[in-house]
Amino acid sequence: MLKVSRLTKRFGGIIAVNDVSFEVKKGEIVGLIGPNGAGKSTLINLISGFYMPDKGSIEFNGKEITKSKMYERAKMGIARTFQNPRLVSNMTALMNVIYAVLGSERGKKISLVEAYGEAMYYLDLFGLLKKRDIVVSDLPIYELRLLELARALALQPKLLLIDEAMAGLNPAEAESVSRLINRIREEFDLTIIWVEHVLKILMKSVERIIVMHYGKLLADGFPEEVVKKPEVVEAYVGEERV
Ligand SMILES: Nc1ncnc2c1ncn2[C@@H]1O[C@H](COP(=O)(O)OP(=O)(O)O)[C@@H](O)[C@H]1O
Ligand SMILES: [Mg+2]
Repeated sequence: MLKVSRLTKRFGGIIAVNDVSFEVKKGEIVGLIGPNGAGKSTLINLISGFYMPDKGSIEFNGKEITKSKMYERAKMGIARTFQNPRLVSNMTALMNVIYAVLGSERGKKISLVEAYGEAMYYLDLFGLLKKRDIVVSDLPIYELRLLELARALALQPKLLLIDEAMAGLNPAEAESVSRLINRIREEFDLTIIWVEHVLKILMKSVERIIVMHYGKLLADGFPEEVVKKPEVVEAYVGEERV
């Protein structure tokens, strides 16, 4: 469903993503890991169209989308979450999800009442019904992360790009977010690329792991095999949390 070929993105002298190629099949859940600064977020930004690559190409469902704008890719079914939640902070949880529903492709065809109903459904899915009238700036990080996921899902994506859903959460919260992500993948027939800095969390939650290091693709395979590779162990040396 997604084919990334020789993708490269520079920021001044830094090559944030360096000649990266991989494919993701429909229905897969792929973990993308790597030390801080490895280029994970940049890669997500390139796939979602937030940045344009300097070199390389991206294909989505057989169509070249390398030059497509972010909203065009969203229309095709690519949604993402942000490492730092980007919700409208002075609006309630409910309003944020209603906005997402109205901003989706079908949003133009439905009434506000229908959008409200759908938004309530997505909030419920993430256990956020009781929090619906709370203004985003008053929500703790755990609920912000859930709301980011609810908002992304309300766009009815085919490919969901998750950038660090676990950052700032305690182990129990992380476990519950992980369970929810796997549940929505099954229920909504989603393909997911899931970025995390901490390897351990993803190990149990995904079927395949891609490792990045200094912008390069370092490894790609089954989690148990990938973590044993000397080059991966080496990349994480000096990192406190593995
Ligand atoms: N908008 C930007 N401008 C300049 N440098 C950037 C920008 N975004 C990322 N970088 C640099 O690119 C490299 C990769 O960053 P990033 O993709 O955020 O890594 P990760 O998400 O793996 O921690 C880092 O060296 C970072 O400083
Ligand atoms: Mg990042």
